Amino acid sequence: MSGAQAKAAVVCGCIGVVAEVSKEALLKRHKQGWLEEYTDDLEVLVRRIREARTKKQATSIGYQGNVVNVWERLLREYETTGELLVDLGSDQTSCHNPFSGGYCPVQLTFDQAEEMLIKNPNKLKTLVQESLRRQVVAINKLSDAGLFFWDYGNAFLLEARRAGADVGAVGADSIKFRYPSYVQDIMGDIFSLGFGPFRWVCASGDPTDLQKTDEIACEVLQAICEEGIPERIRQQYTDNMKWIRQAGEHKLVVGSQARILYSDQVGRVRIAQAFNDAVRTGKLKGPVVVSRDHHDVSGTDSPFRETSNVDDGSAFTADMAVQNFVGDSIRGATWVSLHNGGGVGWGEAINGGFGLLLDGSEDANYRASLILNWDVSNGVARRAWSGNENAESTILRSMTLDRRLKVTFPHHADPSLVARALDQA
Ligand SMILES: NC(=O)c1ccc[n+]([C@@H]2O[C@H](COP(=O)([O-])OP(=O)(O)OC[C@H]3O[C@@H](n4cnc5c(N)ncnc54)[C@H](O)[C@@H]3O)[C@@H](O)[C@H]2O)c1
Repeated sequence: MSGAQAKAAVVCGCIGVVAEVSKEALLKRHKQGWLEEYTDDLEVLVRRIREARTKKQATSIGYQGNVVNVWERLLREYETTGELLVDLGSDQTSCHNPFSGGYCPVQLTFDQAEEMLIKNPNKLKTLVQESLRRQVVAINKLSDAGLFFWDYGNAFLLEARRAGADVGAVGADSIKFRYPSYVQDIMGDIFSLGFGPFRWVCASGDPTDLQKTDEIACEVLQAICEEGIPERIRQQYTDNMKWIRQAGEHKLVVGSQARILYSDQVGRVRIAQAFNDAVRTGKLKGPVVVSRDHHDVSGTDSPFRETSNVDDGSAFTADMAVQNFVGDSIRGATWVSLHNGGGVGWGEAINGGFGLLLDGSEDANYRASLILNWDVSNGVARRAWSGNENAESTILRSMTLDRRLKVTFPHHADPSLVARALDQA
């Protein structure tokens, strides 16, 4: 339980139910304020969901126990009363690493699973796969009743299929799942529009610095909107301004005074330079470090997640993350990283990351422009070459805003000609 989903549910006005087998993890999120209430009793859980639905009360309810029990209890409720108590669902166990502690099988308690991991890992694997099959049976029945289920990007569907669960799409080839990945169905095509989780940390560790950076970021986004933005990204700007205005109120900070804000290339560069100015003029008490999540426009090559909508075959290469790693480093990043795994599991993805210290200097200002422009454009260009229309229009805008940027465009082939050629091959 990261707590993010519980908080997000409340921010969006939903009733979020999150199961967690580890009591320690659940209590920690409750204490930190990410989770509003909790219970270890399935009957209490069902009663609270029903109550909150009736009162239209946004809340987050933690269930201390196994998620399979929750799915099966919700199914029983539907089968006995005809009431579907869950509209949206996903799985957030660490299924990218299911046999080494990432997924606790329903047949065992958390402590028993930990013990079996050491004493009999083969038996644990058998139980995990059995539990995944049970979980999918309940989810499939609830989905038939109207639940919208999607893969959270934790390799749940991949591991469920490996376990023999019925997750294949009906009538489709063997690689398609019956449920969508959140990349396509929840996030949409935002990476091709250049938007991704830009983030920063206030090195002073002072909450008032974070508050000031939130205000600066919001002012910058507002100014960009007023100067004129393409219609296709207006919603992104509106949503992200709404988020950054409210971010402080939700008290999401644990530890470092850090923030994530989805932003595009123009927004990232201008926000970073405005932060640098604020450091220089003393408006902020200390420097700011800017970075981004690996799960972004160009940070990650991951055919089952970040690059799953790159359709020209290049999703199965590692060039984008590697180019970002090299490109960011020669443009003066403070640190860079290149690493395997993450989210979908080892061997399935390559990630390139960077961080840049904004110390108020002219040099930091220059490097922010070099790195952030490159970091986003590199991925958008790659997505444009794969024939993505949003990416083509985004990179065209970048070239218009900076005449020195030259990116080639792909030649679009008639899909029927390509299909015919493939048939003949
Ligand atoms: N889509 C994204 O943007 C995104 C972001 C972060 C993480 N992820 C993926 O999501 C997964 C979870 O990430 P995390 O950082 O929360 O991992 P985590 O390991 O911190 O949390 C997973 C939790 O699931 C609990 N758990 C395991 N099996 C359970 C079961 N059967 N029932 C109830 N609880 C169970 C564990 O005790 C653990 O606390 C990972 O696979 C990660 O790669 C996706």
